[in-house]
Amino acid sequence: MLRYLTAGESHGPGLIVIVEGVPAGLPVSEEYVARQLARRQRGYGSGGRMKIEKDRAAIRGGVRHGMTLGSPVSMWIENLDFANWTEAMSIAPAPEGADRKVHTHVVPGHADFPGALKYAHHDLRNVLERASARETTARVAAAAIARRLCEEIGIEVHAHVASIGDAVAERQGRSLPDWDAVDESEVRAATDEADHAFKQRIDQAKANRTTVGGVMEVVATGVPVGLGSHVQWDRKLDGRLAQAMMSINAVKGVEIGSGFANTRLPGREVHDVIVPDPDDPRRFRHLSNHAGGIEGGMTNGEPVIVRVAVKPIATMTKPLPSVDINTGEVVEAAYHRSDVCQVPRACPIGEAMMALTLADALLEKFGGDSMAEIGRNYRAYIASLARFGNPNNPVTP
Ligand SMILES: Cc1cc2nc3c(=O)[nH]c(=O)nc-3n(C[C@H](O)[C@H](O)[C@H](O)COP(=O)(O)O)c2cc1C
Repeated sequence: MLRYLTAGESHGPGLIVIVEGVPAGLPVSEEYVARQLARRQRGYGSGGRMKIEKDRAAIRGGVRHGMTLGSPVSMWIENLDFANWTEAMSIAPAPEGADRKVHTHVVPGHADFPGALKYAHHDLRNVLERASARETTARVAAAAIARRLCEEIGIEVHAHVASIGDAVAERQGRSLPDWDAVDESEVRAATDEADHAFKQRIDQAKANRTTVGGVMEVVATGVPVGLGSHVQWDRKLDGRLAQAMMSINAVKGVEIGSGFANTRLPGREVHDVIVPDPDDPRRFRHLSNHAGGIEGGMTNGEPVIVRVAVKPIATMTKPLPSVDINTGEVVEAAYHRSDVCQVPRACPIGEAMMALTLADALLEKFGGDSMAEIGRNYRAYIASLARFGNPNNPVTP
């Protein structure tokens, strides 16, 4: 089982993550983690914070001479912005007269209203500091380890933006985007037309002093058949992926494959026909992939596709009417430096949650304490699939 815990506030000294369950013998480097963190920081429509932070995770345990040891991997990511917040975010009581950057004007759609009432905070900063998507930096660092594990099995994880506001650029059929082109695009669009349309919607939102959301599509290729299970509710991989994606800040909807569109089609046009294919390790393949690579809570060997709805950011330069949490006075919602559209930047976070979920499922299926052991289990399983769909190798009772 792969577990991880993050800690740290958005403007505090930094973020910590501990990843437990990583097998020994996995090649890992700070440079690899840094590349993943840098991908999270790019994106048209980002606010000023991303210009301040140059994220780098220092590995503090669990790795020796470039290889994991099997012990927990711990990482520390400094918040460079903390230099501007030493008094407001001081761990020790702030000195008399210090600028504590207290704020009390609720932002509708953010975590501050329920968080203040639940935790008995009269300064909304005490909620926002942790509710901020800055926390996902630590998840992306943890996921870099998971991604390395997935890569060893041949799994690649990517994401692109499928829509921003009413600008929709869906993939056609089974074709997947050119991922290098997606990486080049500031809005993580698969085509030049989509790049242009998405930027236009973001510029429009900015001009109107509002924000705009969208849909990202997270895709894992090279996933073996049989990760997850149908036998118990909490082992179903679609359920685990949905929870992982839903836990990303501002995510309000998840579909596996073309889940919602499938509801408008007859069954004959929805289900993915299976045909023999001696060249496939499964000795079968599907003619389409509306199921998004998961049937019965298990991967079926097709690309795993999860589509994720990201709401528009709650903090806006022209704020909504709101309330002061302490006085009850009617006020304008607070405005703090904020993004106009976070959907492109949500993509590496979606990839992170996919990699963490798949790595956990891989360990469950091929479990071992070292990469050598996992490799043996994986190869033996793939070889065993040749017993299916093969008249020369009949199943013996
Ligand atoms: C990459 C990313 C960046 C975000 N940036 C902001 C931001 O600048 N301002 C903001 O109000 N919300 C931002 N959010 C969303 C909030 O963190 C989120 O809406 C808030 O925590 C309330 O939680 P919920 O929307 O999941 O219910 C961002 C989310 C993501 C994924």
